[in-house]
Amino acid sequence: MKRYHVTTFGCQMNEHDSERIKGMLESLGYAQADAREEADLILFNTCSIRENADNRFTAHLGHAKRLKSERPDRIVGVGGCWAQSVKEEVFARFPFVDVAFGPGQVHKLAEFLTSDSITAQGFFEFEGFTGHLPARREREYQGWVQISVGCNCVCSYCIVPSTRGREVSRPAGELVAEVERLAQDGVREVTLLGQNVNSYGRDLIAADHATFAQLLARIDAIEGIDRIRYTSPHPKDMREDVIRAHSELSSLCEHIHLPLQSGSSSVLKRMRRTYTRERYLDRVALIREHVPDCALSTDIIAGFPGESEEDFEQTLELAEQVGYDGAFTFAYSPRRGTEAATLADQVPHSVKVARLERLVEVIQRRARERAERFVGRTLEVLVEGPSRTDPSRLRGRSRHNKVVNFTGLGAPGELVQVEITGATSQTLTGHESMLMRAGT
Ligand code: SAH
Ligand code: SF4
Ligand code: F3S
Repeated sequence: MKRYHVTTFGCQMNEHDSERIKGMLESLGYAQADAREEADLILFNTCSIRENADNRFTAHLGHAKRLKSERPDRIVGVGGCWAQSVKEEVFARFPFVDVAFGPGQVHKLAEFLTSDSITAQGFFEFEGFTGHLPARREREYQGWVQISVGCNCVCSYCIVPSTRGREVSRPAGELVAEVERLAQDGVREVTLLGQNVNSYGRDLIAADHATFAQLLARIDAIEGIDRIRYTSPHPKDMREDVIRAHSELSSLCEHIHLPLQSGSSSVLKRMRRTYTRERYLDRVALIREHVPDCALSTDIIAGFPGESEEDFEQTLELAEQVGYDGAFTFAYSPRRGTEAATLADQVPHSVKVARLERLVEVIQRRARERAERFVGRTLEVLVEGPSRTDPSRLRGRSRHNKVVNFTGLGAPGELVQVEITGATSQTLTGHESMLMRAGT
């Protein structure tokens, strides 16, 4: 039996796509290899969101080159956003690569692998979504659901619209059926994926039409699904119906990841985010009004071209004011083919790094303060397995998406009640409430 090895970079959409790539390969009769050295087919599912994503990946590619020279019959494949963004250049720059494919052409890999032997090629009917391919889930109790692909926004720093194309939604009925299948298969938590989940459905014809809020309600009604998450909403499209859904639908988790990018309206304008600082804060106020205990996380870019000290201070001030439960912070990275990369006022690297440090200080301090509210409470935790730092303890996630390390007996995939005794900016600690266990 031939064996494959897939290395995944980038976002949750790429993780989802890799599960589909693996599912597809297993349908072709391949088995997963534990290490790259043992594989006949070495694959990379790549990301190109920032320059360091490119660099990390090209270092791995050097390893594949060595393995290929040891055993030339090995196949090396490169898929994902980086592959899409460099397209034809891949083979010139890396002549040992046998096959390359973008995020919307995963099925081409199957065609490539089966082109000499006429096997189940017809099985992979491609209609644009990797969500149509079979999946091999990393965790049996958690599932990704690709609700749309592509992005119609034109954020001036971002490479994604050019790698993933225009936004296309999958019909609501199809998504509900997919989640029903997942539930029957033991999945308890689903994460709905799209570049801008709030604009879900706008491109669908009447017969299949649903808004994102309606889709959430239909998924909430599915027996067996205890938790629904989604990523990412765009602040410009974050409407009250979706915010209210967090208080009305029992399985929709109390966590919203609302990417800010900058706290300065003039920077936001040059980023082409199409909302202002005020509009963003208004969304936060609406969330706090309807779902007071909701955890909020975000993405922020420091050092966007032309970002002045005053602009940056507005970001710090907003982060201070909102008090995020967590945030991903990035130094602006110029990307090929994007508008922002051509702007004159690029911020020096040292300034970006210094701003990032100041930002991280505020984010972590506020996150730690926010986490304090959980100490003394009992939270529902979905057990994931042993703690990474102390295998005698367990690790899981609360509905607020906080990592919880705790002592207890829960098995992976089980929902347990944990009494929270400590909090840092990143994690909570506690012990399983045996009282509740005895009672259930
Ligand atoms: N579609 C999602 C996520 C896009 S990528 C959204 O809009 O929320 C994830 C994050 O990477 C972005 O939110 C942004 O903060 C960051 N990012 C994207 N391009 C970047 C760039 N060129 N430099 C630095 N950070 C970037
Ligand atoms: Fe990129 Fe903006 Fe689309 Fe997100 S919304 S994927 S940041 S263009
Ligand atoms: Fe995701 Fe990276 Fe592509 S963040 S959408 S894999 S560029």
